[in-house]
Amino acid sequence: MKLAPSIYTADFARLGEQIRDAERAGVDVIHLDIMDGNFVPNITFGPMVCAAVTRNTSLLCEAHLMIEEPERTFHDYQEAGVTRVIVHVETCPHLFSTIQHLRQLKLQVGITLNPLTPLVALEEALPLVDLVLIMSVEPGYGGQKYIPASTHRIARLRQMLDRIGSQAELEVDGGVNVDTICEVRDAGASIVVVGSAVFNDAHSVAESVRNLRDTLGERA
Ligand code: DX5
Ligand code: ZN
Repeated sequence: MKLAPSIYTADFARLGEQIRDAERAGVDVIHLDIMDGNFVPNITFGPMVCAAVTRNTSLLCEAHLMIEEPERTFHDYQEAGVTRVIVHVETCPHLFSTIQHLRQLKLQVGITLNPLTPLVALEEALPLVDLVLIMSVEPGYGGQKYIPASTHRIARLRQMLDRIGSQAELEVDGGVNVDTICEVRDAGASIVVVGSAVFNDAHSVAESVRNLRDTLGERA
């Protein structure tokens, strides 16, 4: 199971250190939550902070764009050293050309949808993408509770991907921690976003990652 820590709940006063700790702890991807205060109530950060992150890690960095009109920013995230961009289908009325735009910029393509947006909204796009992200919380904040109905959505999406022989990653984002990570893996996820489960005051980053790997039964 690939782990993608979200820096949303990291200590921004020592962000570089937190990212290096996560990389040393053996995570796989850095997840960057971009929020514009329009598509979601919260505002986080943009390309500038992403550039600071990509300069401090050799890991793949993915930008989760919880913003209106995401296409206006693709070039900025590419310049910032982001490798994968994940867009919400709710913000992309012309999804085919949006995907083409990402391909032209040599960015990996991820698509995602809010917890109650029907999966059929992304079904036709599945053959065109590198990753599909299931939101298991309402986007906009870290530290929320996993929405239990997400497990069935993950399993249904797994079936949809397998049916077309897609190699796309199936990622889950929101409320994934030691209590939910096995259920999410067993439903068919290949990568999970872990925010507060990795960056929190209760444990060090190393301990938090170790707890997740132990829970998965993956510790060597
Ligand atoms: C929510 C973000 C998530 C969130 C994950 O809008 O997309 O990535 O930061 O944080 P946790 O893992 O704490 O739910
Ligand atoms: Zn996210």
